[in-house]
Amino acid sequence: MLTVENTKQWLFTFADKIKENASYLSELDQEIGDGDHGSNMVRGVEAMEEKLNESDSSDVSEVFKTAAMSLLSKIGGASGPLYGSALIGMAKSAGEDDQDLATLLQAGLEGIQKRGQAEQGEKTLVDLWIPVIEAVQNNTLTKESVQKAVEQTKPLKATKGRASYYGERSIGHIDPGAASSGYLFEALLESGVVNG
Ligand SMILES: Nc1ncnc2c1ncn2[C@@H]1O[C@H](COP(=O)(O)OP(=O)(O)OP(=O)(O)O)[C@@H](O)[C@H]1O
Ligand SMILES: [Mg+2]
Repeated sequence: MLTVENTKQWLFTFADKIKENASYLSELDQEIGDGDHGSNMVRGVEAMEEKLNESDSSDVSEVFKTAAMSLLSKIGGASGPLYGSALIGMAKSAGEDDQDLATLLQAGLEGIQKRGQAEQGEKTLVDLWIPVIEAVQNNTLTKESVQKAVEQTKPLKATKGRASYYGERSIGHIDPGAASSGYLFEALLESGVVNG
């Protein structure tokens, strides 16, 4: 179950992973984008850490809202509004009675899809979130299953976002946004919200 404490722990662990892997994320984005995904995400998670440290959230919904606002305001590029929308969806879901984790993540995915209009198979964040949510529903989420979902974006051809300009040349590369979301779900496992 999500509490203020473990939700913050989850997001701080995510921030650490983004910072540790920033150059790798930008390298991925150099292949099929403009090379800024790592630095975009670092800017966002640093602002998020600051706000989460300052704020005295009384419930999980507020924690997600604070995180959403930091990411939205600090990440330039496509991923800011997309992650922001995911976290706003999760904030809304956490504010309702149902505290089921899969339901909460599903609300995050809906936020991403409402904002970005991507369907499965277009080589975006969506291609990571869908299998991860399925794994959460089936109690099979592990680091390996997250990594597998990241790898599975490799053969896809991008048809949304900047990577779509690369057409066929986008095939054979991991989607940078899927990789950064992979860290979000590895962080979920490490923070003890789910055991895998
Ligand atoms: N429509 C979309 N739906 C879901 N995810 C998307 C969409 N478009 C892009 N993405 C994700 O965003 C990632 C790229 O994020 P990044 O921070 O590099 O922004 P950007 O594409 O450089 O933005 P901009 O073109 O505005 O500079 C992609 O790897 C992909 O996962
Ligand atoms: Mg980019």
